[in-house]
Amino acid sequence: MSEKPKTTISVIKADIGSLAGHHVVHPETIAAATKVLAEAKSKGIIIDFYVTNVGDDLELIMTHRHGVDAPQVHELAWNAFKEAAKVAKELGLYAAGQDLLTDAFSGNVRGLGPGVAEMEFVERPAEPVVVFMADKTEPGAFNLPLFRIFADPFSTAGLVIDPKLHKGFKFEIFDVFEGKSVELAAPEEMYDILALIGTPSRFIIRRIYRKSDGEIAAVVSVERLNLIAGQYIGKDDPVAIVRAQSGFPALGEVIEPFSFPHLVAGWMRGSHHGPLMPVPQRYAKCTRFDGPPRLVGLGFQIKNGRLIGPADLFDDVAFDETRRMAQLIADYMRRHGPFMPHRLGPEEMEYTTLPGVLEKLKDRFKKVAGEPKAKKPKIETSLLSAHE
Ligand code: F6R
Ligand code: MG
Ligand code: MG
Repeated sequence: MSEKPKTTISVIKADIGSLAGHHVVHPETIAAATKVLAEAKSKGIIIDFYVTNVGDDLELIMTHRHGVDAPQVHELAWNAFKEAAKVAKELGLYAAGQDLLTDAFSGNVRGLGPGVAEMEFVERPAEPVVVFMADKTEPGAFNLPLFRIFADPFSTAGLVIDPKLHKGFKFEIFDVFEGKSVELAAPEEMYDILALIGTPSRFIIRRIYRKSDGEIAAVVSVERLNLIAGQYIGKDDPVAIVRAQSGFPALGEVIEPFSFPHLVAGWMRGSHHGPLMPVPQRYAKCTRFDGPPRLVGLGFQIKNGRLIGPADLFDDVAFDETRRMAQLIADYMRRHGPFMPHRLGPEEMEYTTLPGVLEKLKDRFKKVAGEPKAKKPKIETSLLSAHE
C-alpha cells in the first residue's frame, strides 16, 4: 500500500492597506489576492484556498503538498499581497503596502513582514481544523487560550477523561527577543510553561505537539514586525491553526477558552491593552478606538487537501455574553485614558513620546538630596536592552 501523502495548511497574512483608516480590508484587494491564488490553484501549485480578512489584515488560507516554508507557496502569497497592495495604492487605501517590507523577495516571507502559521500532517479520515485570526493584537495573545486548550483540565475535559489526550501535550515556546525556543511538556512542566508564557510580549507558544506520538496539534505565527523592522510599522496581528477532535481537543474544547475575553496588548496604536472580542466574520472590523481587538475562528474539514467550509465559529449566541463582557471591559479599560495598565508599559509601546519628553525636561529634573538612584529590576533591564 502506498503511503498517504502529507497535506500542508499555510495561513499567511499581511496588512496591505485598508479602508477609512486601519479599519477594514477593501473587497477589491480581496478580489486581487483571490485572482492570484485561483490561477495558482488551476496550475496545481496549491490544492485549495480561502481568502478573507479580519479588520485591516488580509488572510490567505492555502492547502498544498509542498510542506512548511515552501518557496513556491511563500512566493505565491507574496505575489498575492503585491497584487492586492497595487490595488490598495490605486484606490488610495490607508497604509497601502504597509507590511511588505522589501521589494526583493528571496524565497520565504518570514522576516519580510507577513505573518505565517503552517503545519503539515497526514490527514486523518476526517480532519477538522480551526483557523484563528486576530486584529489589533500580538502573537502572545494566543498564549492563554492555547494553554487552556492543551493543558488546563478545567477547560479541556478530554485531558482527564479521554485516554488519547491523557498523556498531555508538548509546547514549543519561542523567545522573540533572543530568537530561541524551548520545548516543555504539560502537565509535568506546567508551572515552568506558565512562568514563561505569562509574559506574552516575549515568550510565545509557537507549536504544540501531542506527547504520545509527536503529532502536530497547533501552530501560531510568531512574527513581530516591529522587532523585525527595528521601528514601529504595524502590529503583528497573529494567526493560529489548531487541529480538533479524535485524539486532539474536541471542537468545543478548542473554542471554550475564548469565552473569556482576556486582556491582550495591541489596541490603538499598538500601545494599549484591551479585551480580545471573538466575533463572526461580519463584525471583523475594528472601529471603536481602532478595536477592540477582534478574533475570528473559521472551522474547516480538510479532505485530500480540499478546504471544506468554513464554519464561522463565533457566529453563535453562545458568545453574546462574551462580547457583552468584552464591551464592559473595553469601557472599564478606556476610562484609564493614558494610564497603565490600559496603556502598555514604556518598553512595549509602539508609539511613544517619552524619550522626547525626558530629553526636553532633562535640565528641569533636579536631584533630590538623600534619595539614592534605584537599581532597575533585572527582567525589565533585559527587556529594555533587547529593544535597543
Ligand atoms: C494599526 C493600528 C492603529 C494605528 C492607528 C494610528 O493597525 O492598530 O491603531 O496604530 O490608527 O495610525 P497612524 O499613525 O497611521 O495614523
Ligand atoms: Mg493596520
Ligand atoms: Mg491589523
